[in-house]
Amino acid sequence: MQYLLGIDIGTSSTKVLLLAETGYIVDDIDRLYDFEMPANGWTEQDPNLWWQAVREIIPEMLQKHNIDGKAIKGIGIAGQMHSLVMLDAEGDVLRKAILWNDQRTGKQVDEINEIVGAARHIELTSNPPLTGFTSPKILWVRENEPEIYEKCNKILLPKDYIRYKLTGEYVSDVSDASGMGLLDVKKRTWSEEILKDLKIDRDLLPSLVESVEISGYVTKEIAQELGLAEGTPVVGGAGDNAAAAIGVGVIKDGTGFTTIGTSGVVFVHSSKPSTDEKGRVHTFCSAVPNEWHLMGVTLAAGSSLQWFRNRFCHEEMAEADQIGVDVYKIMDDKAAEIKEGSDKLIFLPYLSGERTPHLDPDARGVFFGLSTIHEKAHLIRAILEGVAFSLNDCLSVLRELDVDAATMMLTGGGASSPLWQKIIADVFRCKMQTCKSNQGPALGAAILAGVGSAVFKDLQDGCEKVVEIKRVVEPSESEYANFYEIYKSIYQSLKVEYKKLSKI
Ligand code: XUL
Repeated sequence: MQYLLGIDIGTSSTKVLLLAETGYIVDDIDRLYDFEMPANGWTEQDPNLWWQAVREIIPEMLQKHNIDGKAIKGIGIAGQMHSLVMLDAEGDVLRKAILWNDQRTGKQVDEINEIVGAARHIELTSNPPLTGFTSPKILWVRENEPEIYEKCNKILLPKDYIRYKLTGEYVSDVSDASGMGLLDVKKRTWSEEILKDLKIDRDLLPSLVESVEISGYVTKEIAQELGLAEGTPVVGGAGDNAAAAIGVGVIKDGTGFTTIGTSGVVFVHSSKPSTDEKGRVHTFCSAVPNEWHLMGVTLAAGSSLQWFRNRFCHEEMAEADQIGVDVYKIMDDKAAEIKEGSDKLIFLPYLSGERTPHLDPDARGVFFGLSTIHEKAHLIRAILEGVAFSLNDCLSVLRELDVDAATMMLTGGGASSPLWQKIIADVFRCKMQTCKSNQGPALGAAILAGVGSAVFKDLQDGCEKVVEIKRVVEPSESEYANFYEIYKSIYQSLKVEYKKLSKI
């Protein structure tokens, strides 16, 4: 039997997944870790945590399943996008990685818009510069830690640092590189114009491959340490969302997926690099060679419900402990008793500001329409509906650009709630489907490895072998369109007040 390994370098864990050539998912093993917050709005992580996790899990996985390293035909890597890793000439890490959710770079984003021009930036890279993206982080280090910038020999993304450790090669793939703010996303090459404008030396950047292409081979030393065969191919892999798309079979026009994790993503595949002139959604290269995807991000999706659980559902948590069920199931059952629209209560999930469509770090959460009839269950249901409205904002921008999906896959922790599945289907007015395996980016990375190492004929073959539909949720007629109209106008009414509040 031939096997593949898919690695996902996440923000809260690293996962390694073992996939058999038949499409059977043998196992996945996780190592959890935290990120550091050295100042308000700053987030950092030591790249050694990721590498330590990978070098522990791979031998553990091979031993557990009694698999000879020679049977591993390919490795694919996915990971958190945008985060900045800097290496010196010896390939050693110069400082902790500055993560995708770090917000320290407001000033650098303004500088980039000024130097490049906001509209020109979108023209050249298909996206506006955002605080989360890599280029403003590079400028921040250059301005604030010049001695580190001086010593920097290579700039990598998290998964590409792991590739470097495995193969000794400095390579990225075009899907992940799309989120650096330095890639000409349409041409799938570094943008010479942007690099010149921002005075970033091209030699600091890795070379580029497509996600299914072989980027290097496991070195002798690492093969010996991890129990792999020397020369095992490592494919380009992909940014976490592009990899997750492969893992749920989203590889053609008219297909897409929605994730409800900590944040929420609405992702639609596109054979054309359509771009939003207002920069409200991202246009990135797809893990499917020479194709693209568009996606919108809601910052507090699952985390809105998690916030409510942690602050206000102590009774439900105790009950869940007592009867041995998940507290979210109890919350779900309560919310299911309330009718659609939560008796005229609308929630805006902007607890962490918002990316799509407002690009507003000062936006905050709102319960609108509270009355004496409302109970806890109404608030829970309003959160589920508010997150669905916010995801619908992402989908509406994509639909405006004529990028749509007839059927959407639903993934992430929140996708396990049947009530949330139904609310999303009704709000989106779209058929939603869940998958038997909810494995995310690591599964997509393993499929990419299978294509690069010719274990699978192509992506279609790999996805057909792996992806199995679990549940189909059809949309029904509902009143949600009326609530959604009000939902949209609440942000417009509060926009100025949010700014004022942030300045107090
Ligand atoms: C995508 C994004 C996140 C990160 C972290 O633009 O910011 O999905 O990739 O996982």
